Amino acid sequence: MRVRLPGLPERVTIYEVGPRDGLQNEDTIVPAAVKAEFVTRLAAAGLRTIETTSFVHPKWIPQLADAEELLDVLPRSPELRYPVLVPNERGLDRALANGATEIAIFGSATETFARRNLNRTVDESLAMFAPVVERARSQGLWVRAYVSMVCGDPWEGDVPIEQVVSVATRMMEMGCSQLSLGDTIGVGTPGQVTALIDALVKAGVGTELLAVHFHDTYGQALSNTLAALQAGVTTVDASAGGIGGCPYAESATGNLATEDLVWMLDGLGVETGVDLTPLIETSRWMAAHLGRPSPSRVVQALSPETEQQ
Ligand code: HMG
Ligand code: MG
Repeated sequence: MRVRLPGLPERVTIYEVGPRDGLQNEDTIVPAAVKAEFVTRLAAAGLRTIETTSFVHPKWIPQLADAEELLDVLPRSPELRYPVLVPNERGLDRALANGATEIAIFGSATETFARRNLNRTVDESLAMFAPVVERARSQGLWVRAYVSMVCGDPWEGDVPIEQVVSVATRMMEMGCSQLSLGDTIGVGTPGQVTALIDALVKAGVGTELLAVHFHDTYGQALSNTLAALQAGVTTVDASAGGIGGCPYAESATGNLATEDLVWMLDGLGVETGVDLTPLIETSRWMAAHLGRPSPSRVVQALSPETEQQ
């Protein structure tokens, strides 16, 4: 049954990260042809923005070492957006050579994660991103900025909101078009999310520029999403089947599952354009490739009993 809640948007854009954030942390290396089918099936289920891969050092993320091969075989259509992760100018060169039109840089609110994930301090990583954004923008690319560890860090503990706002505004001032708030280890709770969004709005980053990126480690991703929607955010990151995590962040598990998000938004009468049935079939098909059941509660609830054992 559909029952709306006051203060929610009519429509939410789901930014699908399964092929990138999902597959980057699976033990199984998925062949490019299977990844391409994954993306094609996600698009057929109604997802329009699908983060497909990363142009990072292949030794750091071997699961995505086939970025060139994948972009080469992906079906293209004017309505489909395929952002890719790019950390540095070498990554941008590779992305441009393979026809990328949308990229995402990825910074950290904390020093420890900046070092572990990018081999840089926070300042050094921002210095690495600046020429990437400048060159990408001059070539007409759309650029998203991620900030990780916005609700807590496994090595540093609580992360002050001012610290997140400081890194986020420095990245947005480079000329990025969207800011995605990453609760990389899933420790945040709704009050924290609301306070962070309020602080960003006060610092000049309006909710129309924001996206939320919740990992579901502590089962808080949906509650945090609802808080973000009530605060005015309309773009939500999710990973089909809830697969993934970050290999450089202790205790990070998969993202909010796209199915769990679509179930909640369908119930609230918020449009997403996504059809749950083919999406669930896609996640079950991918789970078979990965050799483990989907962690999504909705996928589990709507799958035949025999497949869950
Ligand atoms: P580095 O070792 O400091 O790199 O790594 P470097 O600049 O010193 O270069 C060393 C060598 O790597 C050179 O080769 C470069 O050409 C090569 P050599 O001259 O020795 O033969 N190299 C590259 N090769 C291919 N593609 C590249 C590239 N760059 C350099 N782009 C670097 C620095 C940033 C490259 C490395 O730390 C890296 O690749 N990190 C990526 C880590 C990553 O992808 N993490 C997961 C994504 S973040 C995430 O999941 C969080 C998120 O989901 C949000 C959230 O949940 O919070 C987004
Ligand atoms: Mg992530």
